[in-house]
Amino acid sequence: MLLVHFVVVLYIQFTSRNTIEKLRSTSCTSASHTVLFTLASYMVGLEGQLRQLQDIASCAQPLTSFNPLVIPTTNGRRYLSILSSLYEIPKAMLSRSHHSLRALSRTGRALAVRIDSPLSQQTVRRKSGPYGYTQAKALVFSKNGEPSDVLQLHTFSISPSISSKSVLLRSLAAPINPADINTIQGTYGSQPSFTSLIGTSSPSVIPGNEGVFEVVSTGDPASPIRKGDWVIPAVAQFGTWRTHAVAELDQVLKIDKEGLRATQAATISVNPSTAYRILRAYGPSTGLGGIGMRPLEVGSGEWFIQNGANSGVGRAAIQLGKLWGLRSINIVRERSSPEETEALKAELISLGADVVVTETQFLSREWRDQLAEITNKGRDQIGLGLNCVGGKSATALARSLSEGATMVSYGGMAKQPVALPVGLLIFKDIRFVGFWLSRWNQQDVAGRKHMINDIVDLIRQGKFQDVPLDEVPWNWDTDISTLAQEVQGGLQGFRRGKGIFVFGDT
Ligand SMILES: NC(=O)c1ccc[n+]([C@@H]2O[C@H](COP(=O)([O-])OP(=O)(O)OC[C@H]3O[C@@H](n4cnc5c(N)ncnc54)[C@H](OP(=O)(O)O)[C@@H]3O)[C@@H](O)[C@H]2O)c1
Repeated sequence: MLLVHFVVVLYIQFTSRNTIEKLRSTSCTSASHTVLFTLASYMVGLEGQLRQLQDIASCAQPLTSFNPLVIPTTNGRRYLSILSSLYEIPKAMLSRSHHSLRALSRTGRALAVRIDSPLSQQTVRRKSGPYGYTQAKALVFSKNGEPSDVLQLHTFSISPSISSKSVLLRSLAAPINPADINTIQGTYGSQPSFTSLIGTSSPSVIPGNEGVFEVVSTGDPASPIRKGDWVIPAVAQFGTWRTHAVAELDQVLKIDKEGLRATQAATISVNPSTAYRILRAYGPSTGLGGIGMRPLEVGSGEWFIQNGANSGVGRAAIQLGKLWGLRSINIVRERSSPEETEALKAELISLGADVVVTETQFLSREWRDQLAEITNKGRDQIGLGLNCVGGKSATALARSLSEGATMVSYGGMAKQPVALPVGLLIFKDIRFVGFWLSRWNQQDVAGRKHMINDIVDLIRQGKFQDVPLDEVPWNWDTDISTLAQEVQGGLQGFRRGKGIFVFGDT
């Protein structure tokens, strides 16, 4: 047996360059062959070829942290630990080989690994390109339009040598938020710059503002962010709809992943943060004239009212409001049957909503009396309104507020302007303001970190539930039409959950 293997390796010695070229041009069939060829080639002094062999070897594992030139052929143990991390061969398995490796000739060492490798039966997909470049894919658009028309799936390579201030990231999950779709459509308040940084044929944007990544490697071994950590974007319009990314350290924020699911970590930084900021910063007039306002008082049982209560932001506001001792009136749209509507109301009540009403009820003449009943004949004030919708719903929301209250518009789901009776401004002194999380994040970086940690703690303690999710698996072979359709559907109402890309074998 050993003799046969010996002959194989000799064959490799004499056909080195051609063999390697051939191997590079065919897709990988067996990780063990990779191990065999890599080691054998190394042993016969083909160091110069090893970078090319990374391409083949990467069938088993991304090779971003692999520098073949540092492998000492005479040190079996070091050899093994590198192999173990490269090929995901369990260390125990390798250490068994190690005894035989030491006893064997160089040629035999390679073959021992080949024989023992549990990957030898497996067919493994090629994951990196020439010279150890990580193969990545990203959704991109090079002009604005409907997602199904303009999104493309672009394949690109990430260099194994990243700067000391950078990290290489693998995506775990990234939601499809309304703002992402509006960005693609070109209707969002700020537009990212179109660039050719990832080698698209025309300048493009990678959409996706939110998500969570696992750190694959760091440019600096002493970096505060380590391999295996989870990070979320620290900057707006990061471009999360991609399988891998290289980011500067200050573009990401490390989060403590303990007890968190990737889908939870991926959805904290936009919707819960919006609800958190609004509830903690906005509220009724201070009563001193001008536009001064105070936030609702924690633990006071003060009321706020919101439309779009079934949205990600709405659900977060219900839960945070409850946790902070506030009371909420929540407006939702009717479902397709009374039973479904009741089920939705019950769900929001279970999250902590005090009152849930349908939009029809809210827009009816009877609402005024019903509201008076809820607020103890108007003696309890409603000092804050959260407008997610616009149009008639926003007008009715403004009318429901008490004197001196503030209505914060943060969304425009109905795509209709907000019309306000002048009397509300003059006689009721209602304040109408807008809210944009990106601006807050830019202006209060430390506050953002504190808020994210606070929300993560609440999730970990089981006090904060994420929104219902509609998971969209994204693997290496997932095609563009599947991904683009999911994005296109993201703005449709009455969804069973928020679309979220969940990255698998990428
Ligand atoms: N300003 C900011 O900084 C900021 C931050 C976060 C979010 N937002 C905005 O907040 C809004 C909600 O975002 P999200 O991620 O929480 O949403 P989401 O979870 O995707 O849910 C969308 C919500 O919008 C409702 N909706 C859709 N079309 C509607 C219509 N025509 N009339 C009334 N309601 C409609 C849906 O109601 P159903 O459940 O009945 O279908 C659903 O509850 C978006 O406009 C988003 O851009 C703004």
